[in-house]
Amino acid sequence: ARLVVLVSGTGSNLAALLEACQDPAYGARVVGVVADKDCAGLEHARSAGVETTVVALRDYPARGHWDVALAEAVGVHDPDLIVCAGFMRLLGAAFLERFPAMVVNTHPSLLPDFPGAHAVRDALAAGARRAGATLFWVDEGVDTGQHIAQVEVPVLPGDDEESLTARIKAAETPQLIEQVGLLVRSAGPGRP
Ligand code: GRF
Repeated sequence: ARLVVLVSGTGSNLAALLEACQDPAYGARVVGVVADKDCAGLEHARSAGVETTVVALRDYPARGHWDVALAEAVGVHDPDLIVCAGFMRLLGAAFLERFPAMVVNTHPSLLPDFPGAHAVRDALAAGARRAGATLFWVDEGVDTGQHIAQVEVPVLPGDDEESLTARIKAAETPQLIEQVGLLVRSAGPGRP
């Protein structure tokens, strides 16, 4: 199966996906990485020899135009599944209508708790005792799509944003790898 990964940040989940895809039994390969800005995630793609594209919102007169351009940049790779891995922008109707039931996102909270860009900070501020990560099908809302899988980690006394983020990622990344593998393999033999 052909994966396109959308990133905005450090790309540790992308790096893990690239590594998983080295095993032919995984059933997928990353055929393109698209970002909304220059970011460390692109480096992971480049060093794996994967084609990268940046589609920056500021280069377009309106969000709808950016959405179409982003869809175009993804569409050239003919993906079977699109994985948002630390992609920090909402996808609009033009994008999602072009790729129906094809876009997943991983979010660092036990959704529906703490949607949005500061989930870990918000969980700490709320005094949450449990945290985690949710993989879900992307819709037009902010982290509102149908859940695929969820993994829980504890919030420990003395946690700060950095320590809790690290604990969440340690559970989030294996969940992402496992679930994406299940999704692509359950879709049938697909394309190599
Ligand atoms: C992940 O924790 C993801 O849940 C959130 O952003 C983080 C991305 O990390 N949306 P990375 O860029 O894959 O290292």
